[in-house]
Amino acid sequence: MSTPRAKPKYYLTTPLYYTNGMPHIGHTYSTIVADTIRRYKRMRGFDVFMTTGADEHGVNVERSAQKAGKSPQQYSTEIAVQWKQLWDDLGIPGDEFIRTTDEKHHRTVQWLFKRCRENGFVEKGRYTGQYCVHDNAYVADAGPGDNCPDCGRPTETVTEENYFFKLSEFQKKLLDFYAANPDFIQPESRRNEVLSFVKGGLKNLSITRTTIRWGIPVPGEAPHVFYVWFDALIGYLSAVGGPNYDERGLWPADLHLVGKEIIRFHAVYWPAFLMAADLPLPEKIWAHGWLLFDSEKMSKSRGNVVRPRPIVNALGIEPLRYYLLREIVFGQDGSFSYDALVTRYNSDLANGLGNLASRTLTMIERYFGGEIPNPAAAQRKYTDAPSTAEFANEALTKVMHQYDRFSFSLALESIWEIVAAIDKYITVEKPWSLAEKPENRERLATVLYTAAEGLRVVTALAHPVLPQATQKIWSQLGQTEPLGGFQLDLLSWGQLKPGTKIGKPEGIFPRVDKSETIARIEAMEQEQNKAPEAPAAAAASTPVGPGAAPAPGAAAAAKIGIEDFAKVEMRVGQVKSAERVAGADRLLQLQVDIGDEVRQIVAGLALAYKPEQLLGRKVVVVTNLQPRKLRGVESNGMIVAASLPDGAPVLAGFLEDVPVGARLK
Ligand code: MSP
Repeated sequence: MSTPRAKPKYYLTTPLYYTNGMPHIGHTYSTIVADTIRRYKRMRGFDVFMTTGADEHGVNVERSAQKAGKSPQQYSTEIAVQWKQLWDDLGIPGDEFIRTTDEKHHRTVQWLFKRCRENGFVEKGRYTGQYCVHDNAYVADAGPGDNCPDCGRPTETVTEENYFFKLSEFQKKLLDFYAANPDFIQPESRRNEVLSFVKGGLKNLSITRTTIRWGIPVPGEAPHVFYVWFDALIGYLSAVGGPNYDERGLWPADLHLVGKEIIRFHAVYWPAFLMAADLPLPEKIWAHGWLLFDSEKMSKSRGNVVRPRPIVNALGIEPLRYYLLREIVFGQDGSFSYDALVTRYNSDLANGLGNLASRTLTMIERYFGGEIPNPAAAQRKYTDAPSTAEFANEALTKVMHQYDRFSFSLALESIWEIVAAIDKYITVEKPWSLAEKPENRERLATVLYTAAEGLRVVTALAHPVLPQATQKIWSQLGQTEPLGGFQLDLLSWGQLKPGTKIGKPEGIFPRVDKSETIARIEAMEQEQNKAPEAPAAAAASTPVGPGAAPAPGAAAAAKIGIEDFAKVEMRVGQVKSAERVAGADRLLQLQVDIGDEVRQIVAGLALAYKPEQLLGRKVVVVTNLQPRKLRGVESNGMIVAASLPDGAPVLAGFLEDVPVGARLK
């Protein structure tokens, strides 16, 4: 048994991400949320443990490895290392990074299978069904030729001998469990979705494969390997002791945080596996919504992914954390936009919290020699500034309640109401005028004490979301205890000690120029998207992405054979019409005649060309690219252009006259 803990434990998990691709901002969102909850729970007195990791088996990874000319193990390891590195670099690492290729995970899966089998919940059978390779799931009620309802890709007909998990025997047990634990699935809309799915009847679930090799072997049953969900889900248990989970005392998990598309696996399969093995069930499954880009779920295949590193390189991780948690209502889908990101940064962080900290600390430095002033004794108990102090005290309770419900956007809104109230208080009280007359000294002390104390409260409350910036302000306020270990339950107004020496006021969030910052992020994004996963054709040319042009030097990639070049079909086109794309500074929507048809193409030309300049112009068009959407507008081809060092595009053209539709070779 585990040794008793001084504090209650809280074990939370992110999904274990697939290693057939690199992280984008959607994955980053999940991990940022988990890290925020971890920090919040620590400040509420919990001994917190967070797991993230990599889901490495399955057909997708096997195929990607094959394409890359590597073994699945080597390929998957290279990618898993990069995922882990990213979380480390962004300051959101798991306390454990579990890989489904870890030996301890293999042992746990095999052990769990044995328990389910011994308890009579596993049987052999044959199965034929429509399978979505991308989502690693059979598609219920689909026939041959049908597409997957989740991702829209074609399903494949699969027949094979499998081991089946007798999921059908768990319908009543699950429904009883959901009824006894009404908070098990969150939010309510997902709970309803799961309830109606389970009420509709459960089919037995195929949990092994004989057709693939890249998986955990079923002991003594070669060539069976475990298949995807009876592998990855078990990672949550492998991470905290597996068969010996009792020793660590962390299982059952208190929270599995997932995206809404995998709620069913977590809220139906996973509890059923655990029930079948007589193991304790997790406390809560919370399914958040999707980050959308160009109104669609971000995904590699749609070509609309946003990567985290360029944003972090340009602005830092904290503005990204703040933006995602403030702007997206947790549980719902939300659109990602660079514009909104930078706007939020400037208004809430640079002009809001950053400015409040710097003006308050600077005035204390200037008027009180860098010591927290002593408010007038009678006014110490905030009779002086009810609008700020009472308000802040009430807000404490409110904010903690909002964090408890994972209503991050509301919690931040409430915290920033305090920021605004203190700002207003300073503006009304005008400490700089009070400082001009010695008889106002006491009043000045009260005003600046109130501002500093308000700042301290805000700083503590915002810490789970902005860990580094708030720690800086906290130290500048002369607080020596690390903020991450501070207990929010002990926070109340008036704890700031007069006479405390403050640190040197330093800028926290410098204001940035919006267009320049977005251009920088987009340029880095384009560069990064070309790296390991980019399709060969996209690297060949041109600025049609969400605005930015490829950076210079990008063409110095590995050499390709003529057969690769021959895959790219280019033709002479003529622009028939051109207009700007609403809300996108760089994009033009063109109708281009390519000989036998007129194509709609969205191109990143607007910074260099006015729409009317392009009418009738002959251009080079890549005609055999997958269509994709840019800012919600379908683009069916790509216009070839050179890119100047500042990112401005220059259209490729001809000195001689060429007929429309002519091919380039
Ligand atoms: N490997 C499975 C999960 C197994 S868990 C035992 C998997 N992996 S994944 O790489 O596809 O990651 C999916 C998760 O990443 C989502 O559930 C969600 O947490 C996050 N997101 C991926 N795209 C996202 C958005 N566009 N928006 C928000 N979150 C997204 O599924």
